[in-house]
Amino acid sequence: MTTAVYPGTFDPITNGHSDIVMRAAILFDRVIVAVAASPGKRPLFSVEQRVALASEVLADLDNVEISPFDTLLVDFASQHDAKVILRGLRAVSDFEYEFQLAGINRRLAPDVETLFLRPAEQYAYISSSLVREVAGLGGDVSEFIHPAVQAALKRRKL
Ligand code: COA
Repeated sequence: MTTAVYPGTFDPITNGHSDIVMRAAILFDRVIVAVAASPGKRPLFSVEQRVALASEVLADLDNVEISPFDTLLVDFASQHDAKVILRGLRAVSDFEYEFQLAGINRRLAPDVETLFLRPAEQYAYISSSLVREVAGLGGDVSEFIHPAVQAALKRRKL
């Protein structure tokens, strides 16, 4: 059984993230969406809220689990017997950071491979912070996020 971990802050989960998870769910036996506490990013939603939203959005995917984490990513992967870390590459601008992240993770855990997936074209330019900003200024973000996430942003008056 091949388990892949898809880590991120998911503040909040967007259709771009879901697109990657759907692709991964076809390729791997088990996919764990690992929601990082990421206190350094001062997230809008608590980690519990981010896990709850991701769970609702991805509820139809039987081989996908959602789990919070606040440890090293490679430790989380090893605790869950995952040999693959998945990341999305939206544009060339993502590459440098992702290259660094994959490099450090390989130094820390040489037996864990980082693999990259591309989201569908229409999600290549969105990010959680852009979605928050557009929603906060009254723009229509329905194309980029699940209705449950839209409702959560509304509750936060964003
Ligand atoms: N669709 C839409 N948006 C996407 C996306 C996609 N397919 N893929 C990435 N993004 C966006 C995210 O929404 C996020 O946007 P934001 O910055 O505007 O909020 C941005 O791209 C990148 O963030 P994210 O994917 O959440 O990753 P991150 O950089 O916040 O988190 C971790 C990276 C959590 C994987 C990393 O910090 C980590 O592993 N932390 C654990 C501690 C650790 O092991 N540290 C050492 C690792 S080097």
